[in-house]
Amino acid sequence: MPLKSRIEAAISGAIQVGQGRMSPPKLASALEYAVTPGGARIRPTILMSVAMACGDDRPALSDAAAAALELIHCASLVHDDMPCFDDADMRRGKPSVHRAYSEPLALLTGDSLIVLAFETLARVSAQSPERVAQLILTLAQRTGMPGGICAGQGWESEEKVDLSAYHQAKTGALFIAATQMGAVAAGQEAEPWEELGARIGEAFQVADDLRDALYDEETLGKPAGQDDLHGRPNAVTEFGVQGAIQRLKDILGGAIASIPSCPGEAQLAEMVRLQAERLTPVAPTVRQSL
Ligand code: IPE
Ligand code: IPE
Ligand code: MG
Ligand code: MG
Repeated sequence: MPLKSRIEAAISGAIQVGQGRMSPPKLASALEYAVTPGGARIRPTILMSVAMACGDDRPALSDAAAAALELIHCASLVHDDMPCFDDADMRRGKPSVHRAYSEPLALLTGDSLIVLAFETLARVSAQSPERVAQLILTLAQRTGMPGGICAGQGWESEEKVDLSAYHQAKTGALFIAATQMGAVAAGQEAEPWEELGARIGEAFQVADDLRDALYDEETLGKPAGQDDLHGRPNAVTEFGVQGAIQRLKDILGGAIASIPSCPGEAQLAEMVRLQAERLTPVAPTVRQSL
């Protein structure tokens, strides 16, 4: 099965568990709305690619890990769009969950997806209790406090922001989860895979800053110019457009160099190159002159 279909099948299987029988229909529908159609699915793609590079000897584990990771990501977007955070009306080209449903349902959708992510992993524990325990631990550490997405969002309530801690927790954490969970699902140690995840995460943040500055709302499928609007420090104000593009290339070069040795090393490097091409803005709809 092509990677993309494998990821979609794993995600939709997890959502069906959450929808179950006798569940409140609006919340059940909101779970699916928040997760499909997806965005780039970059995190589960990286996770699966690492698992495959390491042999992928227990595909049920990499499927569950990929689905769990994407559910956490989608949950973070649902909460992030709510009025108490970014108050965004659009996500992935359609109304955000609180606009399409309601604020209480958006809060519950995010909560349910987070719980469902961990349930998805727990359900495959018979495959390998040790690997699943490690997968749950890694995902928990990259989701919560002190260094996960919760911490990242928490920095936005501080007067003094440690920019690198903010970016690492908000964006970097789930990329580290992606590389480490891919390795763990295939029976490898997590630690050697941290650097690759961190570097891809850093590159992704620079690319996201570029897209936010250069693209319009229609192209992005979500509000544009948010960094400027919220006065957030970002790579474009710091380095300029060309400087940020160069920085993106440098970080990705370092990412490829940091791939630990494994049977599928060459294909994995190719995957990182491909993702890098997709991330780098081309022919932008220049919304502001920079
Ligand atoms: C957006 O992530 C949120 C950030 C961490 C900047 P993505 O750009 O991966 O969102 P989707 O999943 O493709 O919509
Ligand atoms: C949202 O971050 C992603 C989370 C980690 C919650 P942003 O607010 O910077 O991203 P967008 O622009 O809404 O996707
Ligand atoms: Mg935000
Ligand atoms: Mg936002």
